[in-house]
Amino acid sequence: MRKHIVAGNWKMNKTFDEADELISNIMDKLEKTTLDRNTQVIICPPFPFLEMTSDYSDDSYFAVGAQNVSDQESGAYTGEVSAAMLESMELDYCIVGHSERRAYYHETDEIIARKVDQLLKHNLRPIVCCGEVLEERESNRQFDVVKKQITDGLFHLTAEQFADIVIAYEPVWAIGTGKTATPEQAQEMHAFIRGLIADKYGKEVADETSILYGGSCKPGNAKELFANPDVDGGLIGGASLKADDFIAIAEAF
Ligand code: 13P
Repeated sequence: MRKHIVAGNWKMNKTFDEADELISNIMDKLEKTTLDRNTQVIICPPFPFLEMTSDYSDDSYFAVGAQNVSDQESGAYTGEVSAAMLESMELDYCIVGHSERRAYYHETDEIIARKVDQLLKHNLRPIVCCGEVLEERESNRQFDVVKKQITDGLFHLTAEQFADIVIAYEPVWAIGTGKTATPEQAQEMHAFIRGLIADKYGKEVADETSILYGGSCKPGNAKELFANPDVDGGLIGGASLKADDFIAIAEAF
């Protein structure tokens, strides 16, 4: 059975002390609640807080992920962080191809494909984001856009490699806007993505791939989103910055 995943993407938020407090609050809540045994919680803080977050995760209540990685192996790339570095910190996951990175840092599907390759080479599981902007949805091009992102970013992988991929469908018009995709819109796109994977790698691989929804996911809408057969969890932005909200979302399964 594929995993249910609730991953918190903190983006560029929190100072050191604030991060410490948030993780400690999340730990408190995780210790007191009983999550569905198939649910994996992941926390993706900014780079400077990864070590602290990993230290808290020793009891394995949650896994830890980075938000970005270099597409290069090592060397003179000032300011970059390599997959080998993340591997040496024993991290589990890394977000790749978030729409904010595509929009503000000009990441293309080719760059994303190289980042995925780096992560797999260094034993990290990529959480690969895809999703259309508002204008693309309004002109009914969302399926073409997502198909291209998945095809160009991921379909160079072997089936064995693809088994380590987590996908996050994040319609850009729903990110940080308070406007959530309806459960029907989410299900429709998730089923479409699973179909693409089945066509390329077969039904068995597709059935084992966790496909997360992201975009204004909150305690109030998580249950109805996660109730859909192809929605395997969420990639949570704003609501992951509040321990109560984040854990309430993890409890929605
Ligand atoms: P929000 O939950 O704040 O809309 O952000 C979603 C997101 O971008 C997660 O990666």
